[in-house]
Amino acid sequence: MMVQKNTNNAPNRLQPIRKIAVTYKSQYGTTKQYAGWIAQELNATLLELSEAKNTDLTRYDLIIHGGGLYAGGIGGLKTVLKKSHKSLVVFTVGLADPKTADYFEILKMGFTEEQLSQTKVFHLRGGIDYSKLNFLHKGMMAARHKYFNMKSPAELSEEDKEFITTYGDKVDFVDKVEIEPLVAYVRGKIGIE
Ligand SMILES: Cc1cc2nc3c(=O)[nH]c(=O)nc-3n(C[C@H](O)[C@H](O)[C@H](O)COP(=O)(O)O)c2cc1C
Repeated sequence: MMVQKNTNNAPNRLQPIRKIAVTYKSQYGTTKQYAGWIAQELNATLLELSEAKNTDLTRYDLIIHGGGLYAGGIGGLKTVLKKSHKSLVVFTVGLADPKTADYFEILKMGFTEEQLSQTKVFHLRGGIDYSKLNFLHKGMMAARHKYFNMKSPAELSEEDKEFITTYGDKVDFVDKVEIEPLVAYVRGKIGIE
């Protein structure tokens, strides 16, 4: 295994270089943006899902997978979970505010209990530009809007209300600071600074 000088400890201590790959699935670019930033910060290989499919992921000590949230599904997660890998960290990118959103159903849908117990998951906030949505996504969002509009305000969560007020617009919450907890966690896990 390749080694590098560990500048943080005794000068002669040698530490294994940890190989990391950031895999991602992004429809409109917000997850791609975060994946790129994370790969850059951690000096990792960046692999879009179609490349990841054809890559032996066991070559990497750690896979960090990012997926946009679509109706509660985490983009590309199933593909990555099916492939052999040594260790996995996942980040989701969605419109909902991670400070208040409940991810219980999303995690239950994406992982078995065993998989979840072995995977650290982070939630980052993305954005949406309704003018750029494809036909299917426009239809899905229109149906969701109609459904919420039929409910009384008391039945709506803050997230639902925010969805109604931003429906049809362009909103962008993508911010590099969002990656900091994930990057700090990975640095701690692999012992680099
Ligand atoms: C059809 C559709 C379904 C969505 N479902 C969710 C969702 O369940 N939860 C959420 O937080 N955001 C949801 N979003 C918002 C996307 O996750 C958000 O736009 C994200 O930034 C997209 O990532 P991408 O740009 O990498 O494709 C949805 C967007 C669309 C168009």
